[in-house]
Amino acid sequence: MSVKNICCIGAGYVGGPTMAMIAKKCPHINVTVVDLNEARIAAWNDEDVSNIPVYEPGLSDVVAEARGRNLFFSTDVNSAIDIAEVIFISVNTPTKMYGAGKGQAADLKWIELCARQIASVAKNDKIIVEKSTLPVRTASAIKDILTHTGSGVSFQILSNPEFLAEGTAVEDLDSPDRVLIGGDDTPEGQEALRKLVDIYANWVPRDRILTTSVWSSELSKLTANAFLAQRVSSINALSEICEKTEANIAEVARAIGTDSRIGSKFLKSSVGFGGSCFQKDILNLVYIAKSYGLNEVANYWEQVIIMNDHQKTRFASKIVSTLYNTVNGKKIALLGWAFKKDTNDTRESPAIHVADHLLFEQANLAVYDPKVSEEQVYNDLDYLKTRERAENRANLQVYLDPYEACKGAHAIAVLTEWDEFKTYDWKSIYNNMLKPATVFDGRNVLDIAELKAIGFQVRSIGSTL
Ligand code: UDX
Ligand code: ADP
Repeated sequence: MSVKNICCIGAGYVGGPTMAMIAKKCPHINVTVVDLNEARIAAWNDEDVSNIPVYEPGLSDVVAEARGRNLFFSTDVNSAIDIAEVIFISVNTPTKMYGAGKGQAADLKWIELCARQIASVAKNDKIIVEKSTLPVRTASAIKDILTHTGSGVSFQILSNPEFLAEGTAVEDLDSPDRVLIGGDDTPEGQEALRKLVDIYANWVPRDRILTTSVWSSELSKLTANAFLAQRVSSINALSEICEKTEANIAEVARAIGTDSRIGSKFLKSSVGFGGSCFQKDILNLVYIAKSYGLNEVANYWEQVIIMNDHQKTRFASKIVSTLYNTVNGKKIALLGWAFKKDTNDTRESPAIHVADHLLFEQANLAVYDPKVSEEQVYNDLDYLKTRERAENRANLQVYLDPYEACKGAHAIAVLTEWDEFKTYDWKSIYNNMLKPATVFDGRNVLDIAELKAIGFQVRSIGSTL
């Protein structure tokens, strides 16, 4: 029997785009995405597809094609669970902010709630698919909850980690490097695994669908991200050496990257990595290693995060020291707030840390991001609990126009690599700034020679140019 009804619990950055792609590629399967957050579901159902809550190039078109046909968004979690043969769990798993494992372990509160809800509603056998990034062995916790209900319903748990990167989600989902599915080595486990493989095989070549044990699949997701983050921290560590020497990080990255054993991707030096996965996944890895008493392993991976924190702090400190060691009352424009271009996601964005540091130094900040709302910027800062909410609002303003944000500023810091920043009329921006006018390019995206010719002082990452 092939699968006819799928449901996904969690309509966020992973669940939304992934289910939209499955619905597009499998018109014979009904896909229902449910979420407790009514506003979020209403936005997914907005008649105007440009208002869906996740900004991703190309996603609106995918939603427009499938929505109402075989893709549905709803708040009725129970009905969706009841009808589905396959249930994806794609709820948030933030780092715990309290109790044991605070600051490192993943908070599995929402996962547990989901499992309990499935257990109470399910009347027939179900395949449960872990889609959220989870620490290794979460599947066994989910299984425990599900199998102790005594309802006689049988559940198979699969791990199917998401490798899509935000900003390129549609592309990544459309032609993934690989799809990874982990399942139990029992006849029932293998049967469930086959069903999920068959769904992806509607558009992904079978040799790109890897099947493993549940545990290998869970660990691979954490470590793939840890390896990627490690590359960014490695190149960022070198950027500081470059700034002290005559070396140039772009040249070094190119020279290293052309070694085919190393490869050229993920060697762009920056103000630091952000996003919901990298830090959380490494912290999970560190926590797991520590819990097995593997202290050297834990310390090794933790250093990737320490380096990233250092890069963000170093960038903010450089702004202060360049502006004569004081930014008190000085207007500084921050271009970009999202953790990378082409997304409206700001989770763990380096911009938050840089802004916090500058506010601590009593700067007056002017923020512009093409896709991030004012409310989101304030929420991100308030979440840190560094200062009163009123103080964040008094000392940071969010602008809808980049030219207004830069007007009267002493300096500009580029914190996200949005393409539009390259096409601004930098001459006019310069004319409206206080002098000396400095640009701190935290993403190395601007044309330094052009800016210098206009009269700007420029500070980039990893070079003394
Ligand atoms: C990542 C993984 O790439 C994806 O496979 C996984 O499923 C989820 O986590 P994402 O967080 O969306 O995806 O973004 P990614 O493109 O990996 O970038 C992460 C951060 O690293 C961003 O802040 C980005 O700006 C930064 N980065 C990336 C660099 O600073 N330099 C680089 O060379 C690459
Ligand atoms: P991700 O990047 O992993 O997709 P998000 O935070 O963007 O994370 O999305 C997770 C979504 O899951 C949120 O919209 C949240 O409201 C939803 N969610 C969390 N717990 C539940 C639950 N028990 N039932 C339904 N939806 C849930």
